[in-house]
Amino acid sequence: MATTRAVVPVAGLGTRLLPATKSQPKEMLPVGRKPVVQYVVEEIQQAGLTSLLFITGRSKTAIENHFDRDAELRRALENERKSGLLAALAYEDANLEFFYTRQSEQLGLGHAISLAEGYVQGEPFVIALGDSIIESAGAPSVLRRLVDAFETAGAAAAIAFEEVAADDVVHYGIADPGEALAGGDAFRIRGLIEKPSTAEAPSRLAIAGRYVVGPCIFDALRRTKPGKGGEIQLTDALRLLLDDGQPVIGLRMRPGERRHDIGNFESYFRSFLHFALADPEHGEALREALAQESRRPPRRGHHRSTMRAVPRDTLTT
Ligand code: UTP
Repeated sequence: MATTRAVVPVAGLGTRLLPATKSQPKEMLPVGRKPVVQYVVEEIQQAGLTSLLFITGRSKTAIENHFDRDAELRRALENERKSGLLAALAYEDANLEFFYTRQSEQLGLGHAISLAEGYVQGEPFVIALGDSIIESAGAPSVLRRLVDAFETAGAAAAIAFEEVAADDVVHYGIADPGEALAGGDAFRIRGLIEKPSTAEAPSRLAIAGRYVVGPCIFDALRRTKPGKGGEIQLTDALRLLLDDGQPVIGLRMRPGERRHDIGNFESYFRSFLHFALADPEHGEALREALAQESRRPPRRGHHRSTMRAVPRDTLTT
């Protein structure tokens, strides 16, 4: 059965990006010219999927507005003969049907996914995290290959993996890879280890925010006990599928393919820089500005030192 649906969770609080995310979704932060979530939606459309459910939360209406066709704005641009700017709204014509549901309490990614059960109607579906951009190296894209590998293997779940530096395994869910599957990039998964130490890690393959899962995930999510912070984790539910002996497979991203996760400031800044430097109009000038900027003495810590709350009794006059 062809996979046609995608679920994009965007209900998280984005606390690591405060204050930028106090009153706007982190998924709407711009990376280069577009909000992060627009890259995700374009990736889903290019992979040939036709229907998308956003799992949203409070203060996420900006996402809904972004994907709504704005007739008034279009008319204004047409009247002012700004047809060049109209092209920037072409994404509104994506051949995708959008659905929205709310996660009213942020009980974790696994909990967010469990809210999609009615929407998927017993069919397999893609999960694409709304705060991660996947840069593919040509066609077919990572997501398309992931869907194909899932369907070919008749798997219960398929997960995309990016190879990370040995020191970075401590930040991710890491695969214990088993035998390779026909076709090269795909492999069977023996286990998933959440944030292992460098010594414990069975590989450097980190979960990259893209999954394809069968409807059996909902039963696994129901059986998943809340973990740290009372959150229900998707990785724990996937581990239950493995414990049940269900076929769970991985797909290695290829050299040149990257995940840009904007969940914390360092990776957000890096992602912004990467895409801004690739901008056909401004990339070159930015590169020069960057070189100039890096020759200036650093202003590191400047902002923090002026903003830090100092206990009253340590203040001197
Ligand atoms: P994160 O764990 O990075 O999201 O979730 P977060 O909770 O927003 O981040 P911090 O730790 O507070 O900074 C990855 C993806 O899962 C969604 C997020 O919106 C993000 O796209 N998510 C997470 C939900 O939809 N619901 C949740 O309860 C948690």
